[in-house]
Amino acid sequence: MAIISNCTASIIKDAALALKQGHLVAFPTETVYGLGADATNEKAVARIYEVKKRPTDHPLIVHISSIEHLDKWVRVIPEYAIKLARDFWPGPMTLVLPRTNFAKDFITGGQDNVALRIPSHPVALELLKEFEKQGGLGVAAPSANRFGKLSPTTSAAVEMELGKFLSNADQILDGGASKVGVESTIINCTSALPVILRPGAVTIEMIQEILDIELDLDSAPSKEIKAPGMLASHYSPNTKVYLSGAPSPGDGYIALSDLPTPAGAIRLASPKDNEEYAQMLYESLRSADSKGLKNVFVVPPHNQGVGVAINDRLVKAAK
Ligand code: TXA
Ligand code: MG
Repeated sequence: MAIISNCTASIIKDAALALKQGHLVAFPTETVYGLGADATNEKAVARIYEVKKRPTDHPLIVHISSIEHLDKWVRVIPEYAIKLARDFWPGPMTLVLPRTNFAKDFITGGQDNVALRIPSHPVALELLKEFEKQGGLGVAAPSANRFGKLSPTTSAAVEMELGKFLSNADQILDGGASKVGVESTIINCTSALPVILRPGAVTIEMIQEILDIELDLDSAPSKEIKAPGMLASHYSPNTKVYLSGAPSPGDGYIALSDLPTPAGAIRLASPKDNEEYAQMLYESLRSADSKGLKNVFVVPPHNQGVGVAINDRLVKAAK
């Protein structure tokens, strides 16, 4: 499976055509790389599940290029969700809203709602626009990794995760390393108040400020687990992850740059702040795997801003 870099307009047009013909296209987004399929094509969507080895009751996020296309997928939009969409799209946020008939059970896992996102990565946006120009309605895309594994933040990581399961007509588009590094914030917008189902770079603080409300922080990430993908153990490298204790010589070590490396440990990342931490997180855990390390000790960041999302993923990686 060849990785296609330097995504020109004509390459993106070809990729959109491949999607229309029912093939899979992995593409960069600002959060992580996604494995895309035409969201209205049941056979193509079935291949996503096959390639990822993902249980079929886990619903998928539908990606669109503009708010104008929302009403194809969504029946009703609460006022607060319109505000969120206007402020944070295109960007690292997914909204769960009541579905229309275009969102079939094979996308929503049989739920009466559908998850939607407008990503901001220029290659993703161009691909979605081109796909819509060719008559497409939306692109279903989970993170482009095998089920339960780390999300890829580079095209090389996609190739490593899925290359051998893709066919020659499928494509992997390269758009550089993902800037955010952790998956989008998922917000359930099907009741009177928003509920955060998965924390991400659109933070609780940002949502509260825009909507001028106090969110129940106990519900962020939600205790009312509506997304079946929120399993306790997820985002796992093969190397064992420890969030406390001290590394022995030869163990991996990840911490903010102001913390020194314990004697003999192998430093895998030294991010200067939480944003950089999120950006480097999955690649540094991947590097623990590729170096064949048995253990990696991670010092979690402060639970603030995108730190909430990092801690959420770290706790799952450590299980
Ligand atoms: O940043 C992201 O969101 C990336 C990029 C590619 O857009 N996508 C991503 O998709 O992380 P995935 O499938 O790996 O994770 C999406 C999560 C899953 O846990 C799924 O269960 C949940 O979103 N989800 C999807 N549709 C839902 C729905 N209708 N209601 C509740 N949760 C939903
Ligand atoms: Mg995923």
